[in-house]
Amino acid sequence: MYFTSDNASGAHPDILAALTRANDGFARSYGADAIMQRVTERVREVFEHPDAAVYLVSTGTAANSLALAIYSQPWSAVFAHTDAHIATDECGAPEFYTSGAKLIGVPGDHGKMNPESLAQAIGRIGEVGVHGVQRGMVSITNVTEAGTVYTPAEIAALTAVAKSYGLPCHLDGARFANSLVTSNASAAQMTWAAGIDVVSFGGTKNGCLGVEAVVIFDPAKAWEFELRRKRAGHLVSKHRYMSAQMEAYLEGDLWLRLARQANATGARLAQGVAGAGARHQHPAQANMMFPEWSLGTHARLEAAGAAYYQMPARAGFEAARLVTSWNTTEAEVDQFLSVLRA
Ligand SMILES: Cc1ncc(COP(=O)(O)O)c(C=O)c1O
Repeated sequence: MYFTSDNASGAHPDILAALTRANDGFARSYGADAIMQRVTERVREVFEHPDAAVYLVSTGTAANSLALAIYSQPWSAVFAHTDAHIATDECGAPEFYTSGAKLIGVPGDHGKMNPESLAQAIGRIGEVGVHGVQRGMVSITNVTEAGTVYTPAEIAALTAVAKSYGLPCHLDGARFANSLVTSNASAAQMTWAAGIDVVSFGGTKNGCLGVEAVVIFDPAKAWEFELRRKRAGHLVSKHRYMSAQMEAYLEGDLWLRLARQANATGARLAQGVAGAGARHQHPAQANMMFPEWSLGTHARLEAAGAAYYQMPARAGFEAARLVTSWNTTEAEVDQFLSVLRA
């Protein structure tokens, strides 16, 4: 009953097998490996964008921060939801990699910005001339930090606001596959066709060992990304092991199959906890949820061996964050629910 994070799950056997295959003999280093050439082509197919530039890094923080850096100046404002991972969980890495861009928190229910809140935030910035930071870019997370999912139309509505100010848009897709499965959208519909310029395309949480792709839809930004990645210490020398993970992840749509599994156990868990009388703080739309239940429930679940993060709750209640992974089993979910109901 392990629901702390999809980062706590193991790597899928196909990913590990690909690493063993890649281990054979010698391969060119620093991203010049033959597997990476195939990965680039495959990612372009998946995103239906023949010119996309594709790079691999080992953490989501690096993917996000480097993606933001190629579109930001030190005096830029980066607009993101108040609870965005880039604002709350990356130790200032986006500010560091952008040489000082300022993150501006945009409010919105259930982890989502809306066009009005975004327009207000952008409108307020840039009114004091040289004395204030300047409008820079917008970053959107899907699946959101609240476990909700933007549809492509909702993404497009946000990017339309950004574009009306001429601002580029980033998508933090640490759980990109889960968001596609929920919305039944294609990678293209969720990104460039909805106005996204650069995506952090997650692999680690969804069955990889440690790899994220940065997909840039404007090839003119590619060289700058390469320089920044190297300078940041994120150009991996034995790169074939990064490439091999991403190749196996995309092979036969493994990435979508694993996300479907995680979302299916997520839905089972979400329905079950609601059926047991818990109230979801946010609509549970993918593989992460925030139920609120009566006092004393944590103690009972923990005594039974359940692992998850406790969250702030209304007075008189307890709350949790529960995350399912590609390898969460129905039996594990049902065991958790039976303790909850007892
Ligand atoms: C929304 C979001 N973005 C990015 C990341 C990637 O972070 P890390 O640098 O830990 O791989 C995470 C991981 O928890 C996340 O939840």
